[in-house]
Amino acid sequence: MMPILFNILKLNPKMKVAPRQTVQLESFKILEQYRHSSEDPEHMGSIIDLGGGGEGIVGQIMGRAVTAVDIREDELLEAPEGPFKVVADARALPFGADTFYCATAFYFFMYLKPEDFRAVIDEVFRVLKPSGRFVIWDATIPDSNNSKKHLFVVPLKIGLPSGYSYTAYGAPWATRALNGQQLIQIATNVGFSLEENLGSEDMIHLVFVKA
Ligand SMILES: C[S@@+](CC[C@H](N)C(=O)[O-])C[C@H]1O[C@@H](n2cnc3c(N)ncnc32)[C@H](O)[C@@H]1O
Repeated sequence: MMPILFNILKLNPKMKVAPRQTVQLESFKILEQYRHSSEDPEHMGSIIDLGGGGEGIVGQIMGRAVTAVDIREDELLEAPEGPFKVVADARALPFGADTFYCATAFYFFMYLKPEDFRAVIDEVFRVLKPSGRFVIWDATIPDSNNSKKHLFVVPLKIGLPSGYSYTAYGAPWATRALNGQQLIQIATNVGFSLEENLGSEDMIHLVFVKA
């Protein structure tokens, strides 16, 4: 979606359109160390990408190193070819314990109800190998305070190897308050250590390690 369309979105009285967020290609560099195991044709990919349908950004960057999991088959079909694609619910992943080296969630938590965060993070902890990393990019979503605007929309500019891609993700505002502290609290309760907090007021960017 080109920038000019964001201005049209803002005119919709039912949408709260946040300022555009930029995710630089550099912020995906941490994933490069997990590219190695994609050489093995039997290997499902060393990175599990939660909610990896739609634009499938992590899959676009890391290709065969990724197993993209999405609850909606149509979202996975829409995502570019490259990663392994598995239709599954992130609250009950169909993989054994200690399977993946890394897990990613790119603007995925904003699509979940907060009451499901714990189940998803429990599952990520289970399927990651010891010392595995969990990398999250997401938008901070303030309380709606009963706003008449039903949808919270985040326009994004994302750095890809081929250049910038423009898109927007939206979620029902009333049920989707989200911030980094919420995720840090749950993840550390589950057993993760927070390695880096690279977020800002509007953006969540967290790196956890399975201790
Ligand atoms: C729009 S995508 C997020 C962006 C996506 N990672 C990308 O790179 O474009 C959010 C995805 O999460 C999926 N999703 C929502 N709840 C889910 C769940 N419980 N388990 C797995 N996927 C889920 C949605 O179907 C949707 O495709």
